[in-house]
Amino acid sequence: MKQVTDQLQRPIRDLRISVIDQCNFRCSYCMPAEVFGEDYRFLPFNELLSYDEIVRLAEIFAELGTEKIRITGGEPLMRRNLDELIARLKRIEGINDVAVTTNAVFLTKQAEKLKAAGLDRVNVSLDAIEDDVFKRINGRHVKTLPVLKGIEAARKAGLPIKINMVVKKGMNEDQILPMARYFKQTGDTLRFIEFMDVGNHNGWNMDTVVSKKEIIDRINEEMPLEAADANYFGEVASRYRYKDGSGEIGIISSVTDAFCGSCTRVRLSADGKLYTCLFASAGHDIKRLIRNNYSDHQLLLELVKIWTGRKDRYSEERNKTGKQREKIEMSYIGG
Ligand code: GTP
Ligand code: 5AD
Ligand code: SF4
Ligand code: SF4
Repeated sequence: MKQVTDQLQRPIRDLRISVIDQCNFRCSYCMPAEVFGEDYRFLPFNELLSYDEIVRLAEIFAELGTEKIRITGGEPLMRRNLDELIARLKRIEGINDVAVTTNAVFLTKQAEKLKAAGLDRVNVSLDAIEDDVFKRINGRHVKTLPVLKGIEAARKAGLPIKINMVVKKGMNEDQILPMARYFKQTGDTLRFIEFMDVGNHNGWNMDTVVSKKEIIDRINEEMPLEAADANYFGEVASRYRYKDGSGEIGIISSVTDAFCGSCTRVRLSADGKLYTCLFASAGHDIKRLIRNNYSDHQLLLELVKIWTGRKDRYSEERNKTGKQREKIEMSYIGG
């Protein structure tokens, strides 16, 4: 196996694959309904990478040291027969973790099937536990119940679960404590995500960020916490345990405490473009190469060239310069 590292000596460990750009929600900070309306043109089916194409690329990435695959969207469970793809990814030598990031609504129907296909775990996006707040955020007036039912279905199927809550000032910071209380009692790890300046439509500015420190202080005051070690090198969340032994939380602090130094992630969009950073403004068109009959070896060389040239560290640089530029949309690249 080749060990390739980028310009900052970071290996490739994780491949994040977006399988579809559509979603059943219209979260205000991700796919605002005003922008992603009736006449928004999502990718046509033939523009999406086929499962054969995805598996082929994943095999080449595995040869380059990738161990972990995360399926994202949009909402990945909207792609037909996702269980088939998961079963095929699980069979790749060297891949030891296949996970999905989802809003959970379709887990009620699909959790069993996904688990049977070999899915290792799920991360569920849920930004509020109170219906009024959640209905406002998801843009489709959906209550929390369908999401909570999805989470229960995953639990029943035996899938480990983490909850992701994006925290945005003025949107849901009043949900930090109610969410912490709720998931402390269910025992699921809740991860708070600092609102990031991804995409071009979410109205981000520094004043909308609730910092890692602020989130920890608020929870610690009511439910004492202590810092815990990372589970693995490059984990995006910093972990904190409840001192009473009832589980843990995580904080993903891309804004106030960036983690580019250990960023081992590469991203593949649903239409086959490769991005070496969540904040990249342009991707590498790998689908074009595949559809121009590149051999596996030619593709591998191309991927090596891209990765070895990589210098991205957007979050660290943003903190220094505060500069803004045109970026890809979160729903297109999957976070
Ligand atoms: P685990 O493997 O369970 O730790 O998942 P994960 O946190 O890597 O993935 P998930 O899809 O659950 O993402 C949680 C949040 O972290 C999302 O808001 C992602 O956009 C963010 N995130 C993940 N990777 C990166 C990264 O490389 N850079 C930045 N800035 N944010 C990231
Ligand atoms: N900042 C932080 N996290 C975001 N997500 C979507 N948009 C943003 C943003 N602007 C989260 C989703 C999901 C994950 C893939 O990314 O809520 O949990
Ligand atoms: Fe869909 Fe997730 Fe974006 Fe919400 S944050 S619109 S659930 S992709
Ligand atoms: Fe990696 Fe870019 Fe995120 Fe930094 S900002 S951790 S380089 S994806």
